Amino acid sequence: MLNRSRRLRTSLAMRNLVAETDLRPRHLIQPHFVQPMAGSTEISSMPGIFNASVEDTLRQVEKDLKKGLTSVLLFGVPEDASKTPDGRYVCDASGVVPVAVKALKQAFGADLIVMTDICLCGATSHGHCGVVDENGVVCNDESLPILAEMALRHAEAGADVVAPSDMMDGRVAAIRHMLDQNSYTQTSILSYAIKHTGAYYGPFREAAHSSPKFGDRKTYQMDPRNAREGLRDALLDIEEGADMLMVKPALPNLDLIWRLREAQLAPICAYHVSSEFSSVKAADRLGWVNGDQLMFEHLIAIRRAGADMIVTYAGREALEKGWIS
Ligand code: PBG
Ligand code: ZN
Repeated sequence: MLNRSRRLRTSLAMRNLVAETDLRPRHLIQPHFVQPMAGSTEISSMPGIFNASVEDTLRQVEKDLKKGLTSVLLFGVPEDASKTPDGRYVCDASGVVPVAVKALKQAFGADLIVMTDICLCGATSHGHCGVVDENGVVCNDESLPILAEMALRHAEAGADVVAPSDMMDGRVAAIRHMLDQNSYTQTSILSYAIKHTGAYYGPFREAAHSSPKFGDRKTYQMDPRNAREGLRDALLDIEEGADMLMVKPALPNLDLIWRLREAQLAPICAYHVSSEFSSVKAADRLGWVNGDQLMFEHLIAIRRAGADMIVTYAGREALEKGWIS
């Protein structure tokens, strides 16, 4: 036999020599749910992930940063009393996200990349990602100024990256325009170019108290049967001024991460979403799988498909448990 593939698998050092992909701390973005109330509550379907006060978030980020986790993605979890039909809370400079961003940038400066989610669902009384009219229709153009103002508030607070996840058409252009007009030309946009609708975000909505009170998100999030539609949307987002592109959920969309990698030059971020994380945790608790190993294999597959970076709830664990260094 002339060709024996096993020759390159004989030892760990040999396997490391020929490894094509790796996972480094710099590839990981840790999500945080920030609440205005004091203290922290663990999210039942996401072990190790908390709804946390600004103070507790700061403490956690400090620990993570020491281990090498240099990027965070913030989601605000306002109190029910702050929610309104138009989600105006998101434009309040004293809202929980601007306050958290300011505190984080004050404490860690350029050592930490602070990304923020741009969407209305956490702050609307009906739980939809945009403004809703009297017939229950989620209105596109009426939502844009609020989303743009939300992004501006985050930029003013010092956010490095704003990440619109609302899926309204034209929001990247609206945000870019608003930021530029106010001289925030250096604030980046990471747009959710491909975001499929479906069951994958269940545990997140429990955490963010952001489930729609009626209907579903099918008129704005993408149909999981479609791939070309996502490639087209990604192109539009780049034309509108997106700096980086998000694909979400990650494992069901490895094909799209790959195709986007081939079709676009922008950095690609994959979101290993709440239920991808929770399913591994649940199966691990049942003793059915080796959760640590499986989680690592999820993340490496996402990297191999072509993602430059990954938003993952397992970021902290990956470092603490030494799966990567
Ligand atoms: C807000 C938003 C969601 C997620 C990220 N931003 C929820 C949704 O669209 O319903 C999901 C992330 C996850 O499941 O971890 N629009
Ligand atoms: Zn939303």
